Amino acid sequence: MTATPLTKPSWAALTPVGEEVFRGLTAQPKTLSPWLFYDAAGSRLFEAICEQPEYYVTRTESAILARHAEEMVRLAGAGRRLSILELGAGTAAKTGQLLRSAVQRQGRTVYRPIDVSGSALEAAKSRLEAELPSLTVDPVVTDYTSGLEEITSDCVPEERRMVLYIGSSIGNFDPEDAHGVLRSVRASLSPGDTLLLGVDMVKDPALLLAAYNDAAGVTAAFNRNVLRRINRELEANFDLERFRHRAIWNSARARVEMHLESTIAQRISIPALELEVCFARGETIHTENSYKFTGRRAKETLERADFEVERSWTDPQSWFGVYLARVK
Ligand code: AVJ
Repeated sequence: MTATPLTKPSWAALTPVGEEVFRGLTAQPKTLSPWLFYDAAGSRLFEAICEQPEYYVTRTESAILARHAEEMVRLAGAGRRLSILELGAGTAAKTGQLLRSAVQRQGRTVYRPIDVSGSALEAAKSRLEAELPSLTVDPVVTDYTSGLEEITSDCVPEERRMVLYIGSSIGNFDPEDAHGVLRSVRASLSPGDTLLLGVDMVKDPALLLAAYNDAAGVTAAFNRNVLRRINRELEANFDLERFRHRAIWNSARARVEMHLESTIAQRISIPALELEVCFARGETIHTENSYKFTGRRAKETLERADFEVERSWTDPQSWFGVYLARVK
């Protein structure tokens, strides 16, 4: 069904949220970008997802990092002083082991977490600097998808940099966009520098679907929260009860998709966008893709962006993969 009007009010200076909601809800099929999930409530819900028994992703990766942190840091440094950067660091909950290993190995260490949330970065800074006196945390508040050059340009020639891109964050991007992100990381690095990439692996679809549709309904609340955000920020009138959370395994594209399905035919108004959006019964808003990788695919993706895979680690069930990739 169509949405009216088809041109946005050009006089209105839209916020980034307004721009994205206008684009996504006038598109066919309807989509919304996953970054919209992360308002304050959404960020809390994501943390709650990570504690759900079905959501193996976070705890599996954390265990891999804890177990192999020393080796990761030793290989990445290759005999030189190492500085560590992290894309989408958030509160840096999983980074502790790596930082501890780096400090143990070389003493004074610089850690530069990059995130759109300044408050998350400040929390990370005070927590980590209190725990590790030899660590300097130098946060950068920015959207890393809009370029990395200025963040990594102040490089010290005798140092090696390790960029952490963990948490399966790359899984939110379509293959071409993921390639673009890795290329921009590559462009900001020098030969010998490394990228530590965490990817979620393809596995039994039943396990994947359970992880994105937990029994306690936390993922469903996280998905629906995007509508609450649109109601609050753009004065819309979404009734959250009238949209159902759906998680689908798309095997052809190797991704879990999240959708919000309209349970009735309905018309939503979004006054701040001067927009009315019609939904057919059963029509969905596609809110997230979470790509899953095979070992081969992870290697190809890194090599195509001009990295060389030096080592990879996984858990005993091969559910999650962490790749150390070096710039040639
Ligand atoms: C933060 C993108 C890694 O894809 O698993 C969790 C987000 N969405 N449950 C993921 C998410 C639903 C998560 N990432």
